[in-house]
Amino acid sequence: MEKEKPFGEVKKRRRLILVPCPYQGHINPMLHLATFLHQSGFSITIAHTFFNSLIPNRHPDFTFLRLNDRLSDDLVASSDLVSVLFAINDNCKASLEEAMATTVRDVACIIHDELMYFCEAVASCFGVRSLVVRTTSAAACISRLAIVQLQAEGRLPLLQVSMEEEVPNLHPLRFRDLPLSAISDISKMAQIILNMYTVTTSSAVIWNTIPFLEPSELTQIKTKFCNKIPIFPIAPIHKISPTSSSSSLLKEDSTCLSWLHKQPPNSVIYVSLGSIALLSNQELQEMAWGLANSNQPFLWVVRPGSVRGSDGLEFVLKEFQEKVGDRGCIVEWAPQNEVLGHRAVGGFWSHCGWNSTLESLSEGVPMLCRPYSGDQRVNSRYISCVWRVGLALEDHELKRKEVEMGIRKLMVEEEGRQMRETAMNFKRRIEDCLRKDGSSSCSLKELVDFIMSF
Ligand code: UDX
Repeated sequence: MEKEKPFGEVKKRRRLILVPCPYQGHINPMLHLATFLHQSGFSITIAHTFFNSLIPNRHPDFTFLRLNDRLSDDLVASSDLVSVLFAINDNCKASLEEAMATTVRDVACIIHDELMYFCEAVASCFGVRSLVVRTTSAAACISRLAIVQLQAEGRLPLLQVSMEEEVPNLHPLRFRDLPLSAISDISKMAQIILNMYTVTTSSAVIWNTIPFLEPSELTQIKTKFCNKIPIFPIAPIHKISPTSSSSSLLKEDSTCLSWLHKQPPNSVIYVSLGSIALLSNQELQEMAWGLANSNQPFLWVVRPGSVRGSDGLEFVLKEFQEKVGDRGCIVEWAPQNEVLGHRAVGGFWSHCGWNSTLESLSEGVPMLCRPYSGDQRVNSRYISCVWRVGLALEDHELKRKEVEMGIRKLMVEEEGRQMRETAMNFKRRIEDCLRKDGSSSCSLKELVDFIMSF
């Protein structure tokens, strides 16, 4: 972000405990926030789980606390995120309480991911303030609260409605866009939503969104749900402190950048489905052949373990390699922000995770949307129908012909050109938010002043 003047002077270094949720899409924004707050003069302690543990020596400016999550290997392997989150919240409380009682001194407040709601009870117990960080969109929050409402009315699972119908008062979301989980039972899911959003003792909400992106959604949240506590919308968090690969759980393969340097401007479609999505071997094959037949250059991230029952990269068939040659580059993990900012990249085939969505908008890159789970369907709907910076691939079994046509529409046809123009406007507006008097810069300054007032 633009450096003008340091934010509010922090006279005495005061310690903040930051508690990320141990998944990549949550660790990244929390570490950017930590870096920003450290640069603003605070001392930072990161409390993190054993599971997806962070590596302290990559972050010499921070101190670290390990929370004993006691997660079993079976639970971690189950892909049942809701059950993993319940276990983390049940099991980590004691470790944090012990650290607060014995080792951590001069704590101004605890800043925790919305999914690490156990922190609120710990903060209250020690008479310390807590602030919650929301790493998903305001629209996702509203759609999750709609699930709780439907559950209370006894309407889940959704049997009586057409999935194509719009949810009342949630335009343009349809029932099929709601972030319901196919794996966890509905009552557990509703409970975790309530735990995340029923802000009772938090002093403020730090939100990775921007008012101009979600004006009515944020207003609705402020009036209905926030108990009059301040909301600091500071997105895009990945731009508020210097870029760093140190929070990556997988090793970034930067060789793709030299491949990108050789490609013409706006010609490459970047393909990445984030850090959690799992796909079938069949789907992978359809993706591969759709990419091959599109005749566009592509950079494709195939994350290890992301294809059920295979090693991912082992799918690369000789026939596919021969057809694609040097037109395709496949890596296991990419330096995503550098890739999206590269002049050769003209489109992003994304699972529509909230970080990826903000990262793409920040670089003016239009999207091909193929959401998998959770809030991704909500984001996809906003990308295609509200902001009009992307095309949604149909929500049924993926077919190579559909992939080929979608890529061509985005990369070479008029519809895609218009989306690229709209996306570039978003990039400019986001840059404005990060300038000295822009909305995100002002929120960041207010946030620092707010913490200093404790
Ligand atoms: C999950 C949910 O899917 C998402 O909807 C929610 O908002 C956060 O948690 P995830 O699958 O991790 O997110 O996607 P996303 O939110 O996009 O975060 C992925 C992060 O990994 C991004 O910051 C992205 O830059 C980074 N990434 C991804 C890389 O650095 N390299 C890659 O190759 C792929």
